[in-house]
Amino acid sequence: MKVALVGYGNVGHAFARLLAAKHAAFPFRIVAIHTARHGTAFEPKGLPIDPAFGPPAETTADFLHRAAADVAIEVTPLNPETGEPALSHIRAAIACGMHVITANKGPIAHGYAGLRDQANRAQVQFRFESAVMDGTPIFNNVRNNLPGVNVLGFTGVLNSTSKLVIGAMQQGRSMQEGVREAQALGVAESDVTHDLDGWDSAAKTAALANVLMDAHVRPQDVFRRGLSDLTVKRALELKAERKTVSLVSRAFLDAGQIRLQVLPEVLDETDLLAVNGGTSNVLLLHTDLMGTIGTVSIAPGVEQTAYGLFSDLVDIARSL
Ligand SMILES: NC(=O)c1ccc[n+]([C@@H]2O[C@H](COP(=O)([O-])OP(=O)(O)OC[C@H]3O[C@@H](n4cnc5c(N)ncnc54)[C@H](OP(=O)(O)O)[C@@H]3O)[C@@H](O)[C@H]2O)c1
Repeated sequence: MKVALVGYGNVGHAFARLLAAKHAAFPFRIVAIHTARHGTAFEPKGLPIDPAFGPPAETTADFLHRAAADVAIEVTPLNPETGEPALSHIRAAIACGMHVITANKGPIAHGYAGLRDQANRAQVQFRFESAVMDGTPIFNNVRNNLPGVNVLGFTGVLNSTSKLVIGAMQQGRSMQEGVREAQALGVAESDVTHDLDGWDSAAKTAALANVLMDAHVRPQDVFRRGLSDLTVKRALELKAERKTVSLVSRAFLDAGQIRLQVLPEVLDETDLLAVNGGTSNVLLLHTDLMGTIGTVSIAPGVEQTAYGLFSDLVDIARSL
């Protein structure tokens, strides 16, 4: 299968490395890459991991037409306010008759139902496992393994960068040092304020609600507060009390309405939501038939995000 990448940063590179490592068993080819500043590359026989880029394509639609790929993978930065330009990239790829995979939660948070319906009409697949929890099966798990189950709400700690930042501050280091750690690991958003202000968590919360609860919401509908009030002094006081703070995402039904929030919550160090440090994430789904079930990812990184794209790609290939 031929793959075109829109965006080639941390996640795009990790995905290209994964495809190269798995090529013998899974002969997918990256035939085209489009970026904002680095330019555009095409090679029908398959591009190397560090291709020579030519001038950027004029539009993403032009790029996609020339790429003539089977699958477009959208990995441009998160825009939590509008979901653009990723939303338009995905619409253009579906209009080109391509299956689409994204790790970008913005389009799922802003336009999931429209994209799903457009993909259904075009008889192509639209997948986004890496948009929440870095490739750990959430969406595919519910779709494949929980038929007939209604998700009534969820509770999660879903942002790795804020966890690293809080961990650093509980060691007496600055917020900025925690940010640098996350950036060195490639897990910070292109604009790190989206992690610290809770926008990334709000986008994930909206995305989960849209897909799992048919919510039709946007990140702006999530009641949100970030970490701006947290000081090193407060983080150390909490540490001395064997407590921590986490950006907790919650969805719940209130008189039939879906309520969504992302707030910094003080938790015992032994709380299920807090017990795994580093970049670890946790998501509890509250359901009608299965009670509460949870998924934990221990110390995920950009390789796991790449794996989520890969698992979606394999799933699409197997379904054809
Ligand atoms: N990093 C993670 O651990 C992680 C985990 C889960 C999900 N995600 C999601 O994955 C996506 C990519 O993350 P990343 O860490 O790879 O970001 P990144 O390192 O900042 O890379 C972004 C890439 O997108 C390109 N780009 C920006 N605007 C574009 C446009 N208008 N058209 C075409 N290309 C454009 C950039 O081009 P230039 O190279 O020319 O600048 C760059 O190649 C984000 O949506 C993020 O939320 C990331």
